[in-house]
Amino acid sequence: MTLLHMFLLFPCFKHAMRHKLQKLLAFMCLCLWWSTCIHVEAANDSLNPGDTLNSDTGTLCSKKSKYCLDLPSSNVDDNQYLVVSTVNKNIVVWTSDVNQPVHGDSAVLSLNRSGVLKIESERGKPIILYSPPQPINNTKATLLDTGNFVLQQLHPNGTNTLLWQSFDYPIDTLIPTMKLGVNHKTGHHWLLVSSLANTLGTPGAFSLEWKPVGQELIIRRRGKVCWKSGKLRNNRFEHIPEDAQRRLNYTIVSNGDENSFSFITTNEEPDIMWIFSETGQISDGKGYVARADLCYGYNTDGGCQRWQDIPKCRNPGDVFQKKTGYFNYQNTSIEGNISYGYSDCEANCWSNCNCTAFREMYSNGTGCIFFHWISADNYTFDSTGENFYLLVNMLTNHKGTRKWIWIGAVAATALLAICLFTICLALKKRKFVFQEKKRQRMVMKMVHLATCSRSSAMEDFEVDLKKGNGLKLFNYTSVMAATNGFSPENKLGQGGFGPVYKGILPTGQEIAVKRLSKTSGQGIVEFKNELTLICELQHMNLVQLLGCCIDEEERILIYEYMSNKSLDFYLFDCTRGKLLDWKKRFKIIEGISQGLLYLHKYSRLKIIHRDLKGSNILLDENMNPKISDFGMARIFTQESVSNTNRIVGTHGYMSPEYMMEGVFSTKSDVYSFGVLLLEIVSGRRSLGCYGVDRPLNLIGHTWELWKDGASLELVDPSINKSFDPEEVQRCIHIGLLCVQHYADDRPTMSDIVSMLTNKSAIVSLPERPAFYVGRKIIHDELSSKGFCTDSTIEIAASTVEITSSTIDMTDS
Ligand SMILES: *[C@@H]1O[C@H](CO)[C@@H](O)[C@H](O)[C@H]1NC(C)=O
Ligand SMILES: *[C@@H]1O[C@H](CO)[C@@H](O)[C@H](O)[C@H]1NC(C)=O
Ligand SMILES: *[C@@H]1O[C@H](CO)[C@@H](O)[C@H](O)[C@H]1NC(C)=O
Ligand SMILES: *[C@@H]1O[C@H](CO)[C@@H](O)[C@H](O)[C@H]1NC(C)=O
Ligand SMILES: *[C@@H]1O[C@H](CO)[C@@H](O)[C@H](O)[C@H]1NC(C)=O
Ligand SMILES: *[C@@H]1O[C@H](CO)[C@@H](O)[C@H](O)[C@H]1NC(C)=O
Ligand SMILES: *[C@@H]1O[C@H](CO)[C@@H](O)[C@H](O)[C@H]1NC(C)=O
Ligand SMILES: *[C@@H]1O[C@H](CO)[C@@H](O)[C@H](O)[C@H]1NC(C)=O
Ligand SMILES: *[C@@H]1O[C@H](CO)[C@@H](O)[C@H](O)[C@H]1NC(C)=O
Ligand SMILES: *[C@@H]1O[C@H](CO)[C@@H](O)[C@H](O)[C@H]1NC(C)=O
Repeated sequence: MTLLHMFLLFPCFKHAMRHKLQKLLAFMCLCLWWSTCIHVEAANDSLNPGDTLNSDTGTLCSKKSKYCLDLPSSNVDDNQYLVVSTVNKNIVVWTSDVNQPVHGDSAVLSLNRSGVLKIESERGKPIILYSPPQPINNTKATLLDTGNFVLQQLHPNGTNTLLWQSFDYPIDTLIPTMKLGVNHKTGHHWLLVSSLANTLGTPGAFSLEWKPVGQELIIRRRGKVCWKSGKLRNNRFEHIPEDAQRRLNYTIVSNGDENSFSFITTNEEPDIMWIFSETGQISDGKGYVARADLCYGYNTDGGCQRWQDIPKCRNPGDVFQKKTGYFNYQNTSIEGNISYGYSDCEANCWSNCNCTAFREMYSNGTGCIFFHWISADNYTFDSTGENFYLLVNMLTNHKGTRKWIWIGAVAATALLAICLFTICLALKKRKFVFQEKKRQRMVMKMVHLATCSRSSAMEDFEVDLKKGNGLKLFNYTSVMAATNGFSPENKLGQGGFGPVYKGILPTGQEIAVKRLSKTSGQGIVEFKNELTLICELQHMNLVQLLGCCIDEEERILIYEYMSNKSLDFYLFDCTRGKLLDWKKRFKIIEGISQGLLYLHKYSRLKIIHRDLKGSNILLDENMNPKISDFGMARIFTQESVSNTNRIVGTHGYMSPEYMMEGVFSTKSDVYSFGVLLLEIVSGRRSLGCYGVDRPLNLIGHTWELWKDGASLELVDPSINKSFDPEEVQRCIHIGLLCVQHYADDRPTMSDIVSMLTNKSAIVSLPERPAFYVGRKIIHDELSSKGFCTDSTIEIAASTVEITSSTIDMTDS
């Protein structure tokens, strides 16, 4: 009857809770069978050294009997876990690792006299929850009234040390005082992970995390942010309904030890808990806290995040609706993978334009069946039928809205056409007045520098920062302390705009500190640009900015530290080059292409990097590449943009149209990517000189080899023979496609990503590339060096600024 109550009280709760209730129904039956649950209240709340607990010797219950911990007997289910649940509501709030189920009948939880807390059972290896480095005998494991199961060391002076706690390993339920965030002392992250399907405990698609930078809660779906709570103001998150927040007090901790979020219930009512369902909903038993299931990528309602990669066939208003009944035909395809849950099926159906409905395949909620080309017309309602999720459009029901959308679309198209026409005209005209404009621009720039006082720009900027774009402001003394006063031993290298130092924060976190030199070309504009750009960007192949520091004339950027330096450090050195075998190099190429694709296409802002080169590709401890140095990146809104200020970039990586006309587009980055790709394959610098009978640069050399069908000769001898010739050839082919003279001929980053993985995606042959012949000055230095250059010779790898008079081309 209690269960019936629960179903009636929380109808929306039903879905998420069903599996827990099933387990607990059985658990309650057991309780009833023992005729009373009262003896539970008299139970111990702790284990002392030598104590054991099994499904017969009962349970531990917290002092006020709010929560109990037990090992349910195998009568209930084959796979069992150590479980903490509420006494009266019967909600599971914590289980031991779901990937390591135990055999309920034989399982024993014990705390032994060496301080080892473990679960042993007939099946499998013992699960060690905690094992101290040295045996300790003065320990105690206690289930607290918060629901936290803690193991403590008791000192003779009456104080305790926390050794282990269940709150460090949350499952899919957040209860008061349980934390989300990160513990800097241990590096441990606290996050909730939804289950794969409602009958399973296995981790699924969604995670709920606390983002210290930006101070907000986020939900990720398979790693991709799909929902954000918005910033916390006056104890309220913008995108969480008022009803769900009224009785909560949030606690945000942000110090050297941790960055965390937790909440408490502000009145004496039973604890509120947030339960995270497999569909991405968070409910608190009365209503919803967050609905990531409504985030389809086209909307921003209720905290949803917009995505760039929505399939063309999906429209605003498209949602999957649950239906019960039958389709009168079966044109289906199947995804039998049992690691797919509801939301993975949904995501797959959403991105396949043929798919218009889906359902789960197995009764435990895993696997998918997709229905192709069916609509509501092909379906008959039947309450005894199967559950389906059918794609419907919420907006088609409102004909009025539709009409206005149409009118809006037509008007917008017309406007766009007019704009494009005007731009075309302007561009045409521009060509003629190009030289004139350039001179004017120089003058404008000088005037600007003369009149725009630095301090006023600084003030604007500080205001911007205070508005809060999620960055941490470090103070100068702490940066000094972290880098040993910018000591030469800490210097990592010289970036385009100043030296970069390694630093260690008091939390032990390693950082890279970029100190912009006062004389550097990177003015306040670039500084601000880099800051605002990069903190919007989150991708595993982009370096993460942590914060900045401004002190009088000092401008400092603080990044995550990359332990393996930059790509050029390995590439152009005979011995270090051997550390990068072909597999690693290919992985690096793929990583860079993914990072660039994100910049060009999927990030909220579309970005052109403009200074892609080996020294701007940093490598983390697993040799994953991360693109850095966004000082010159630009957000673009049109296909190609002509630079209004100045041309900056690095010789050897700049595309011809950018170098000569200052026109840059995503295709300029593609060009630089192509150069970089050839450098990675060959281990040689683009500006070196490699021809036998005439001075050819790397591109020209590659082209000649390619024409002669000898492109494998390009491969860096450091790689040895252990490479896949087909893969290498594909890379060279792609590289040559990227460095073609005309921007329009070059592939886009998404073409490149698919060509890298799929041979058949390469459809065209490269044209003769741009910048064919090497430059004389450099060739004298390098021609004798052969394959790789000594790492101490640093040539032509720094960022330069080109003014109209210094453009110096030998071939085009
Ligand atoms: C609590 O455990 C101790 C031994 O660990 C036992 O002697 C005592 O009877 C237990 N108390 C209850 C109420 O079960
Ligand atoms: C406690 O358990 C650990 C791990 O199983 C074992 O190595 C140790 O000997 C045990 N200590 C005692 C006193 O039984
Ligand atoms: C616990 O360890 C201390 C020393 O570490 C020892 O003096 C004491 O006798 C031990 N107590 C038990 C019950 O083993
Ligand atoms: C109590 O003793 C432990 C270890 O013996 C020590 O680490 C801790 O600082 C002591 N606490 C106090 C308040 O003296
Ligand atoms: C909740 O927070 C407010 C403001 O921080 C505080 O005044 C109030 O006492 C808190 N309530 C409880 C129950 O902790
Ligand atoms: C099944 O779908 C395919 C397209 O995926 C279509 O070509 C075919 O005609 C459909 N079959 C039936 C029976 O509708
Ligand atoms: C099932 O999907 C997972 C995640 O997408 C993948 O890692 C795994 O290889 C797939 N298994 C099979 C048999 O395809
Ligand atoms: C969709 O259907 C078309 C034929 O109607 C077929 O060519 C295509 O491969 C299908 N796409 C997917 C992803 O199933
Ligand atoms: C779900 O059911 C399928 C088919 O019965 C089974 O292969 C799979 O192991 C089950 N998944 C889990 C996590 O139990
Ligand atoms: C689905 O319904 C549409 C509209 O009534 C109809 O044209 C189509 O033939 C139906 N498809 C099937 C496979 O029955």
